[in-house]
Amino acid sequence: MAVLDILKLPDPRLKQVSEPVTGFDAALQAFIDDLEETRQAGPAAVGIAAPQVGVFRRIVIIDCSTTRKPVPNHGHLILVNPEITHWEGYEPGREGCLSVPDYTGNVIRATQIRLSALDRHGEPVEYEMEGYEARAAQHEIDHLDGILFVDRVVSRRTDLFRRKVYQKGGKKNVTTKGTKNTKD
Ligand code: NI
Repeated sequence: MAVLDILKLPDPRLKQVSEPVTGFDAALQAFIDDLEETRQAGPAAVGIAAPQVGVFRRIVIIDCSTTRKPVPNHGHLILVNPEITHWEGYEPGREGCLSVPDYTGNVIRATQIRLSALDRHGEPVEYEMEGYEARAAQHEIDHLDGILFVDRVVSRRTDLFRRKVYQKGGKKNVTTKGTKNTKD
């Protein structure tokens, strides 16, 4: 297993559209394990997508089971070739991304979705998601189409926020303060 390097803005490869997975061999399983290790090595990311480590295949991992405030969720999910088949409701909410370490932003997402995908062994799965988990899935699936949350903020002037990183008690804490980014 290995922790992989995360591509960060403005790396143009983050704009690349990923290809569907067609084979579920040992190499895929090893890559999924590395992707998971990379997610866990980061600052408590609820999700990660393969293109964020430069592998342009349609694979995402989400896990909303360990959020500070509990949210409805389906636990740890590895989703291969995920497709959102139904959207309902819209709500703004704050998002961050391992590939955009310096900012968070307000993005409008569907509040309920239905999603079909394959699991890591190629078996079909289907989920109905709501709220935070639905948002995480939409964010990660966007990565597969080369879309970052910063591409979806209504206004870069008012909906992007600089992230404050500071050290406290020897532990790295990441918080967001309401300071508005004035750069466009
Ligand atoms: Ni992201």
